[in-house]
Amino acid sequence: MDGASLVVKRCTVCHENPAGRNNRHSWIGWQAVIFRMQTLNGAEVPIAERFPIGAYLSDVRHPGWAVAVAEWSIAALGPALVGLWGFWRMRSS
Ligand code: HEC
Repeated sequence: MDGASLVVKRCTVCHENPAGRNNRHSWIGWQAVIFRMQTLNGAEVPIAERFPIGAYLSDVRHPGWAVAVAEWSIAALGPALVGLWGFWRMRSS
């Protein structure tokens, strides 16, 4: 099944098709939306379908570069902080 059909199958159970809304996210931003749908709203999305769904949505609903850069920066912040923390622990021991 392609991304468009998977979105219809998995994402129209509770609301309208998210690809039809005026809602734009980068690749990582859509992964965050899918993750939130699963964890907070109880959406059932098998792990193998997350990438095709996110790839399709970020293809048809991609934001401007400023939003995309902001979303990737936020996503990178967590691992960056963990890395800095590890570096600091290594230095001070
Ligand atoms: C089990 C029900 C359920 C399913 C299935 C579901 N959603 Fe949602 N969705 C919600 C609810 C409830 C809200 C409103 C509350 C919120 O924003 O979390 C919402 C809101 C949204 C919004 C608008 C808010 C935002 O952050 O932009 C988007 C986009 C969205 N869903 C995308 C998706 C996608 C993509 C899928 C499929 C992978 C999906 N949803 C599947 C329950 C669901």
